[in-house]
Amino acid sequence: MKKHILIVPGDGIGQEVTAVGKKVVEKIAAKFGHEFTYDEALIGHAAIEATGDPLPEETLVKMKASDAVLFGAVGHPKYDNDPSAKVRPEQGLLKMRKELGLYANLRPIKLFDELLEASSIKPELLRGADILFFRELTGDVYFGKRERIDGGNTAYDTMIYSKYEVERIARKAFDAAMTRGKKLMSVDKANVLESSRLWREVVLEVAKDYPEVELSHQFVDAAAMLLIKDPRKFDVVVTGNLFGDILTDEASQIAGSMGMLASASIGDSTGVYEPIHGSAHDITGKGVANPLASILSAALMLDISFGLKAESEAIIAAVDATLKAGFRTGDIADASTPKDMILGTDAMGEQILSRI
Ligand code: NAI
Ligand code: MG
Repeated sequence: MKKHILIVPGDGIGQEVTAVGKKVVEKIAAKFGHEFTYDEALIGHAAIEATGDPLPEETLVKMKASDAVLFGAVGHPKYDNDPSAKVRPEQGLLKMRKELGLYANLRPIKLFDELLEASSIKPELLRGADILFFRELTGDVYFGKRERIDGGNTAYDTMIYSKYEVERIARKAFDAAMTRGKKLMSVDKANVLESSRLWREVVLEVAKDYPEVELSHQFVDAAAMLLIKDPRKFDVVVTGNLFGDILTDEASQIAGSMGMLASASIGDSTGVYEPIHGSAHDITGKGVANPLASILSAALMLDISFGLKAESEAIIAAVDATLKAGFRTGDIADASTPKDMILGTDAMGEQILSRI
C-alpha cells in the first residue's frame, strides 16, 4: 500500500515521542511491504518561533495533502505563565482541528494487564476495563464566543452546540457501539445547561436509528465519580469537548499513565493521530518520556485511516510483549520494578521495534 504520512512533532516531548512513533511506522512498512513516504511540518511554539504563526499555511497545506498526520503535542511554559500572550501554541492545535473538520476524537482507554499495579485504582476494580471515548472536538466552549468586558474585570466563554454538531458525533459513537458491547453512555449536564439539553434531545433522536444499542445518560459530575468507582461499567461514551477533555485525562489513570493513551481525530478529511498528553516540560530533554502513547497512536492511524488491521495489531502485540517482558518507562514503573528494567524513550522504542 502507498501512503503519504505527515509527521508533526510540535513541542517539548512531542518531538521525542513522535520520533519513536515514526520509527515504528517505518518498521511496519518494511515488514509488511508498504510504501510509506514522509514529510514533516511545524506547529505550536516551534512554528511561532520560526514563522510567528502557530499553524503556518504551509503546514495546513501539507496536512490536507497527506493521507494521515502523526502528531506530537504543542505547548511551552512561556505561555502557561503569561495569560496575556496573544499568539499561543494551542491556537495552532484548535485551528488545525477546525480547518481539517476533525470533529470526532476517539480515545480508547485500553488497560494492559501488566499495568494493573501501575494504576492508582485498585486492580480488582480495573481488570477488564475497556472504554472508548468519543469526545466532540470542534464545538463547545473551546470555539464559542469569548470576551473580556467591564474594562477587563469580567470575562465570559460561550458553551455552544448546534444540532448538526451533536448528531454527527452521536452517529459515530452509536456506530462504534454496534461493533462493541452495544452500550452507549452520553455524558452532559442537562440538569443545568441549555446546550446539554439540546445535546440530550439530539442523542435521543439518533438513538431511534440504533434500537439495539442500550443508551444511558449521565451527568458529567456523576460520570466523573463513576469512572473511578466502577470503570468496568463503561463501554462507549460520547460527550462534548470540555467534558471529554476532563474525563479522558481522568480515565488515563485507568490505563496507568497519560503516557499510555493514544487518540484519533477524524472528520471530513485527513485523520490526525496523537497522544492525549501535552508537551510535558517538566520532563522535556531528559529522554524519559513514555513513547507508547505515540506508538499506539501510530497503530490507530494504520487501523482507522489505512484499514491495516494486522499491522495495527502487530504494534499492540509488541507493546504487550514488551510490558510482559517487564520493561517500563518511569511513569508506569512501580516500587517492584527493577532499576535496570526502567527505560528511557529511545530504549523503550528499541524494545518495541525488536518485537515487531
Ligand atoms: P502534560 O500532559 O504535558 O503533562 C502532565 C503530566 O504527565 C506531567 O507531569 C508529565 O510529565 C506527565 N506526562 C505526560 N506525558 C507523559 C509521557 N509520555 N511520559 C511520561 N510522563 C508524561 O500536561 P501539562 O503539564 O498540563 O501541560 C504541559 C504543556 O502541554 C502545556 O503547555 C499545555 O498547554 C500543553 N498541552 C498540550 C496538549 C496537546 O498538544 N494536545 C494537551 C495538553 C496539554
Ligand atoms: Mg487535555
